[in-house]
Amino acid sequence: MSIKILGTGSYLPEKRITNDDLSKVMDTSDEWISSRTGIRARHISVKDTTCDMAVKAARIALEESKVAPEELDYIFLATVSPDCATPSTACLVQSELGAVNATCMDINAACSGFLFGLNTAMAYTKAKMAKKILVIGVETLSKLMDWNDRSTCVLFGDGAGCAVVEADESKDVIVDVGSDGSLGKVLMCEERPLKNFLVDNDESMSYVSMNGSEVFRFAVKKVPKTVQAVLDQGHIDKDDIKYFVLHQANQRIIESVARRLKVDLDKFPMNLDQCGNTSAASIPILLDQMNKEGMLERGDKIILCGFGGGLTWGAIYLEW
Ligand code: ACO
Repeated sequence: MSIKILGTGSYLPEKRITNDDLSKVMDTSDEWISSRTGIRARHISVKDTTCDMAVKAARIALEESKVAPEELDYIFLATVSPDCATPSTACLVQSELGAVNATCMDINAACSGFLFGLNTAMAYTKAKMAKKILVIGVETLSKLMDWNDRSTCVLFGDGAGCAVVEADESKDVIVDVGSDGSLGKVLMCEERPLKNFLVDNDESMSYVSMNGSEVFRFAVKKVPKTVQAVLDQGHIDKDDIKYFVLHQANQRIIESVARRLKVDLDKFPMNLDQCGNTSAASIPILLDQMNKEGMLERGDKIILCGFGGGLTWGAIYLEW
């Protein structure tokens, strides 16, 4: 028993901010940002919450899949920018959708979150615990940014993407995932500092901080390895893969991965120039755009690959 994607959806907040817009409010330039990352614009939320964006994406995916909210057995929602510590954003989404039969939880695996969500969905369907699952990746990263730190805030954007997946015995799905918590500090955002009647603490909440060159080194080493692991495990010829859908962090990372895998860059679709890095949302947003543009046909073999905070990584081979 494995999974098939029935339909996808995505949502980007209305406000689109270009690099030139940013250069009016901070000391940066289109040339600096685009030459190092490939990013030219991102969407920033001024009113949509994390739940709002997830619900808008989910409604599109459910409609395309012809699945009623009541048919969903689970909602797995990947995010590092939830609306509340509790309830989970997955539960908030369930309530908005009326997915009354779904069991819901959030997954925190940063930019690998959607991959980890799909992997969990696959495990649940294999265990015959579920037939239809909604997997969402959604981020409001703009609220976790220090807007005085130009080295990080220019890289990220807000948005949501999702897929409705169904158990399907006829489909092959192969997964490789991993984590290395010892490297967690290279990309982090601390939550509330320790504070109680025994500990007096005036520290405020922190923002995303990143050692850019360490993250770059990790990504260009780990991503080709995890993709190759999936190819080897399934005895799949990389020439048979139609698309490698990578987390949209940085164009230079994707170019380096393509070179290392010796695969034509045309097989690596990108939208980071318009969306920036949307962490857990980046893969499902791109997948939905590819789907809506008619780039995917049933039976196409694709590999999705996420990497990021934790540190975490993973690749999934599936047939569309
Ligand atoms: N605009 C203009 N100048 C800037 C900006 C900016 N937005 N940000 C930093 N600078 C300056 C720095 O102050 C520094 O100036 P100095 O030399 O006078 O001190 C100079 O630019 C170079 O800074 P570096 O940090 O060395 O820049 P680098 O060339 O390494 O590029 C970058 C930084 C783009 C982050 C790079 O390290 C990278 O691509 N890292 C990969 C990490 C990544 O993509 N992370 C995404 C999130 S993680 C994930 O999704 C997995």
